Amino acid sequence: MELTYRPRRLRRTPALRSMVRENSLAASDFIYPLFVHEGNDIEQIVAMPGANRWTLDGLVEEVIRAWNLGIRCVVLFPKVDDALKTEAGEECFNENGLIPKAIRRLKKELPEMTIMTDVALDPYSIDGHDGIVSAEGIVLNDETIENLCKQAIVQAEAGADLIGPSDMMDGRVGAIRESLDDEGFENVGIISYTAKYSSAYYGPFREALDSAPRSLNEKPIPKDKSTYQMDPANAREAITEAQLDEQEGSDILMVKPGLAYLDIIYRLRQESELPIAAYNVSGEYSMIKAAAEKGWIDERSVVLETLLSFKRAGADLILTYHACDAAAWLKKVE
Ligand code: PBG
Repeated sequence: MELTYRPRRLRRTPALRSMVRENSLAASDFIYPLFVHEGNDIEQIVAMPGANRWTLDGLVEEVIRAWNLGIRCVVLFPKVDDALKTEAGEECFNENGLIPKAIRRLKKELPEMTIMTDVALDPYSIDGHDGIVSAEGIVLNDETIENLCKQAIVQAEAGADLIGPSDMMDGRVGAIRESLDDEGFENVGIISYTAKYSSAYYGPFREALDSAPRSLNEKPIPKDKSTYQMDPANAREAITEAQLDEQEGSDILMVKPGLAYLDIIYRLRQESELPIAAYNVSGEYSMIKAAAEKGWIDERSVVLETLLSFKRAGADLILTYHACDAAAWLKKVE
């Protein structure tokens, strides 16, 4: 055959392939999510093999391990005792609460590590919602934001570097930015969950924190989060959310979940010049883990291919429970 173009020419050797490779992964792309609890034992999370609820001591060790693998940012999630949960989730702004304590400890032991936090009421809400649920079963927007701002301040005071509002209340990015600035935290950044979809992929995470919406009394509690998280059918709306977050002062935009929403990452990449993060969520992690345990897929190859797909779609950063494994695998390749 007389072919002018033979794309296989550039695929012939590993060296040629590495020369024309368009995207790559580095440990510094990863943000490592970690669960922490008040208990004295490290507890395995059944639906997320390899992930744990860490004690404070265990957390410090794990974060040092991550640092040594090249990971430069962790995000912390608290498993809060039921006794501390209330309708308005006031525990979220207790300066001696689990998260401020964990941040202070980590900043003392490893000050260089970037600490990201999650801002939302669900781990602290007796109803399992990210906002305050009214007697009529409505998730209240503006009332919730007051508590989210207090939560962000307490986290910043403890030493957080990046505040991550995951609640999807309207106007919270601007309100948090203003509160941080008023309190003198103008250098604390915001990584907003910009396009966060109402997704079934969060199931294992809610098990990890025991934070799923639930009804304990006669108050009608919405069964899902679809009045504030986005409809999985919508793409244009993600651009509106991104424009709002950008105007309100977000430093980094996030898309969540990741794998089923690569088109959203791509669209935001076209629309914004801000850094973009993808959240490779708990359900995505569990699916790979389960198939790998059964021997149906090769975990290492599938994880690295999946993480690379986020970069190809346009993400700069990836929140992933595979962070340490992937960083270790990347080290071996070099
Ligand atoms: C809570 C929050 C959730 C996740 C991160 N922050 C769950 C939810 O919105 O119900 C999910 C993370 C994951 O599934 O890995 N605001």
